[in-house]
Amino acid sequence: MKHKRLYLVGGPGGVGKTTLAASLGIALAQQGHRTVVLTVDPAKRLAQALGFTGFDSELQKIDVGGGELWATMLDTDHYFDRVISKFATSPEQRDRVLAHPLYKTMVENLGGSHEYAAMERLLEFVKDPRYDKIVVDTPPSDNAAELFEAPQRMADFMDNSVLKWFQGGGKLYLQLFKAGTKVAMGALKLIFGAEFLDSLGSFLADLEGMQAGFQKRNLEVLETLRSDQTSFVMVSVPSEARAEDCARFREMLKEKNIPLDRLVLNRLEPLPPEAPMDLPAGAKRLWEYQKSLHTQQKAWADAMEGAAPCETRRLYEKHGPLHDVANLSELGRLLLN
Ligand SMILES: Nc1ncnc2c1ncn2[C@@H]1O[C@H](COP(=O)(O)OP(=O)(O)O)[C@@H](O)[C@H]1O
Ligand SMILES: [Mg+2]
Repeated sequence: MKHKRLYLVGGPGGVGKTTLAASLGIALAQQGHRTVVLTVDPAKRLAQALGFTGFDSELQKIDVGGGELWATMLDTDHYFDRVISKFATSPEQRDRVLAHPLYKTMVENLGGSHEYAAMERLLEFVKDPRYDKIVVDTPPSDNAAELFEAPQRMADFMDNSVLKWFQGGGKLYLQLFKAGTKVAMGALKLIFGAEFLDSLGSFLADLEGMQAGFQKRNLEVLETLRSDQTSFVMVSVPSEARAEDCARFREMLKEKNIPLDRLVLNRLEPLPPEAPMDLPAGAKRLWEYQKSLHTQQKAWADAMEGAAPCETRRLYEKHGPLHDVANLSELGRLLLN
């Protein structure tokens, strides 16, 4: 794991991905690597520890004592503007799309747009020779496949299944379309109004020609994820529900030929020290609860570790301060070793 260049930190929401991505970045930078970390929605205290003063999608240099660390936050809205600018075949096309009233709606409604933006930014860093190490925190995808399928979905989107997004997932309109364009257009006009459809039509025409760029991007992302320079780190917590998530995640990675490098079981409750005999009843119940939590978590951690096709790291719930460079760095080193 130490010798990889790109670290992708994935897993369900709330398990510690952003915290651990930052920790990994700090530890790598302190080892002397020029490191960049892309974070997604860092908790306020973590953002402060990293020196972010507000929302910041620009790269910002962070003082971690010795190493060189850069950090940035994922900005979905503006990021799309940049992507559109990149793939537009002319400045006029770019301006037309960006100014189109449907564009913003599209960015907000298109499923997987966060995932797409993360993957897109990742490629940018991978292509930048200034960085020795790249750590990418990922949006909390309950369905992990979304992360890897985002570029393909975007390519599909550009490739005419564009109407799906404004259907808001409703199957009705899709059926109308299948029933025949003429009938469908009539029905849609009734539902959305002629003006909207004309507007949609002009928007689709504006997007014309951008598809090739997206398709190429999709292939590049998959190639990058499968490269032996990439380490996929899955973060989870030991519990029954998360064990199922993990199993699904593993299957999906296998299907996509993306190797899993490390499973991190985070926030394990340590075994409480032996309780004194004269503990008050309330405190005793709390102690018993903590002990049973520890036992349950240990059983799930053992099961999840047994099923993992890779090395596992167990990290304990930190009850003291966590959001400072020293503590984060310690977590990062535990992950790497
Ligand atoms: N080992 C740990 N000990 C204590 N708190 C933790 C630990 N790891 C993460 N946390 C806390 O859990 C919460 C969720 O972490 P976060 O990194 O934002 O998760 P995610 O990015 O997966 O949604 C945060 O409040 C964070 O401080
Ligand atoms: Mg997060």
